[in-house]
Amino acid sequence: MKVLSFLNNKGGVGKTASVTNIAYILASVYQKKVLAVDLDPQGNLSNFYGNTDFVKLLQNRRAKKETAESMVSVGELLINSDLDAHKAIRKTNYEGLDILPSFPTLSAVEERLKADITTPQQFRLRNQLEKVKGEYDYCLIDCSPSLSILNVNALVASDEVYIPTLADDGSLFGIELTKTELIDEVKKYSPKLKLGGIFFTRYRKNLNVSKYAVGLLGAAYAKLVLPLSISERV
Ligand SMILES: Nc1ncnc2c1ncn2[C@@H]1O[C@H](COP(=O)(O)OP(=O)(O)OP(=O)(O)O)[C@@H](O)[C@H]1O
Ligand SMILES: [Mg+2]
Repeated sequence: MKVLSFLNNKGGVGKTASVTNIAYILASVYQKKVLAVDLDPQGNLSNFYGNTDFVKLLQNRRAKKETAESMVSVGELLINSDLDAHKAIRKTNYEGLDILPSFPTLSAVEERLKADITTPQQFRLRNQLEKVKGEYDYCLIDCSPSLSILNVNALVASDEVYIPTLADDGSLFGIELTKTELIDEVKKYSPKLKLGGIFFTRYRKNLNVSKYAVGLLGAAYAKLVLPLSISERV
């Protein structure tokens, strides 16, 4: 199983859109077995592919009521390493595409993880994904826009990380922060991690700012900028 993360410290750059579409294409067009992991407390990927009624789920949790609906999400797998990862994985409506969802409670999990100093916190996701690695060709991780322990977990579990970015004048800072503060740091103790590349999303080629951003990023990151861009589409 090859693990790919999509990460940018900047919000709204197309991380979730990239994971959603690439996961679907790998499963449907290339007939690969794909696991999409939602590691963002916003739960956008889970909302898109999952069939979970989050309001009902939160009410049941508060009432500590077990339901037919699995209460186990990626957050519980991170907190409890003895939990079987299969308990949290759900089928989507698409053949070959499964999802490991996040619930809105993932932000609280993040706080608990940071407070737990008894075991290393960076390797939790990697250890859980080890349990299912024989069952999938690809695992795609949708990250949140932050420099968080959750994203460190994503990188430690990954073979490759990709940085989607808008072609605007503010994008360079987000990429540099993501690269130096997260990717370069994790590489020091997880040498298999490779920066697969940076690519433009919502790209509008006729705008001056797009040409400016391409020039700026090309000068800063050279071959790391992939020769492909995702156009803006309604
Ligand atoms: N190629 C595209 N054309 C038009 N709209 C797009 C495109 N890609 C993404 N969007 C839209 O841009 C918005 C932001 O995209 P997305 O949610 O994928 O970003 P994100 O990086 O995951 O955001 P966040 O950091 O909040 O998780 C969404 O409304 C999405 O539908
Ligand atoms: Mg997102």
